[in-house]
Amino acid sequence: MSCSFGEKIKISVFGQSHSEAIGIVVDGIPAGIKLDMDKISRFMARRAPGKNAYSTKRKEADIPTIISGIVDGITCGAPLCAVIKNSDQHSKDYSKLKTLPRPSHSDFAAYVKHNGFNDIRGGGNFSGRMTAPLCFAGAVAMQILEEKGIRIGAHIEKIAGVKDSRFDPVNVNADLLKDVSSKEFPLIDDSVKEKILSKIEAARLDGDSVGGVIECAVTGLPAGLGEPMFDGVENVISRAVFAIPAIKGIEFGNGFDCADLRGSENNDDFIITDGKITAKTNNHGGILGGITSSMPVIFRVAVKPTPSISKPQMTVNLETMTQEELVIEGRHDPCIVPRAVPCIEAVTALALINLI
Ligand SMILES: Cc1cc2nc3c(=O)[nH]c(=O)nc-3n(C[C@H](O)[C@H](O)[C@H](O)COP(=O)(O)O)c2cc1C
Repeated sequence: MSCSFGEKIKISVFGQSHSEAIGIVVDGIPAGIKLDMDKISRFMARRAPGKNAYSTKRKEADIPTIISGIVDGITCGAPLCAVIKNSDQHSKDYSKLKTLPRPSHSDFAAYVKHNGFNDIRGGGNFSGRMTAPLCFAGAVAMQILEEKGIRIGAHIEKIAGVKDSRFDPVNVNADLLKDVSSKEFPLIDDSVKEKILSKIEAARLDGDSVGGVIECAVTGLPAGLGEPMFDGVENVISRAVFAIPAIKGIEFGNGFDCADLRGSENNDDFIITDGKITAKTNNHGGILGGITSSMPVIFRVAVKPTPSISKPQMTVNLETMTQEELVIEGRHDPCIVPRAVPCIEAVTALALINLI
C-alpha cells in the first residue's frame, strides 16, 4: 500500500491537505514506552507552517490528538493513532487547478491516475502537509532510538547555491546533531543565514521559489544493521525519504563525487579506535554492502524549488485541450528546504527503527 511503510513498526498515513483532518496509525510500538509529548510537540513545531517569511502563510497549530495506543503517557501495545486537525484551508484558491494543472506539481499525474477524482484542494494527499503526521511518528521513533544511543540530525546544506558547512563525516557527534536540530533555521555555520534568507526573499518578491540540499547524519548505529540487495540501509532510507514531496535526489557518503576518484582516493582504510574497528575516512557514508559499518551514516537530499509560484506559466487546459496561461493563487512556501529538515529526520527514524 502506497501510504503505508515499515514491517516491524508499520505506519499508515491518512487525510488530505484540505480534509477535516490528517493523521497516522503507528502499529508495532512496544508497550511500556513513556513518550515525552512536549518533545513531540517541539519537533512538530519545527515543520509547522505560517511562522516566518520562508513558509506558507497557512496557519496550522499542528497539535496531534492521540486517539489510541497511549494510557497515562505510556504506550499500551495497541496501534498508536494521532489525528491533526486542518483548520486554515482556502479551498477556492485551487478550483481552477482541476482543469489547469500546475507545472511540476502532482495535479496532472494525479488527474490521470485517479480519473479526475483526485482531491485538488491544497494538493490533496500529495501535499507537503502530509509530512505533519510523518513528523509525529518520526518523533516517537526518535525517542525509542535515542534510548538506544542513536541520534539523528539534519541541517540545510545549501539553498539557492549558498552553502552551509558540511558535517565532518568521521567526527560528527550527537552533541552537534542536537545543537543543529534545535535551531529555528538549522545551519552549522550561522554566518550564511542572512544571505540565504535574502535569496529566499528575493525569489518570493519575484513570485518565484528556490530549492536546496539537506544533509542528514545518524550517530550511534552499531555495525551490522541492514540486509544485502533490496533491504539495505540505503534502500530503506531512500524509500522513506522519497515519501516527502519535492525530494528529487539522494546521495550517501561522498555520493556522486566518488565517480571522479580513484579507488585509492575513495577507499576508507580500516583502523582500530579504542579497541573497535572503525575507518580513517568515511566516503562510504557509514554503509557498506547495504549494511552499517559503525561509522556515522551520512546522506544528502536534493529539494526542488516549490512548484507553485506566482509568475505566469504555461499549462494545458484538460477540458479544451488548448494551451493556457496559469497564474497560481494561494499561499505557498517560497522555499521548502527549512521545513523539510525535520521531515528528513523523521522518515530516517522511521526507516531505521525497522532495521533494529
Ligand atoms: C514541507 C513541504 C511543504 C511544501 N509546500 C509546498 C507549497 O507550498 N506549494 C507547492 O506547490 N508545493 C509544496 N511542496 C511540494 C509539493 O507537495 C510537491 O512538489 C508535489 O506534491 C509534487 O511532488 P514531487 O515534487 O515529489 O514530484 C511542499 C513539500 C514539503 C515537503
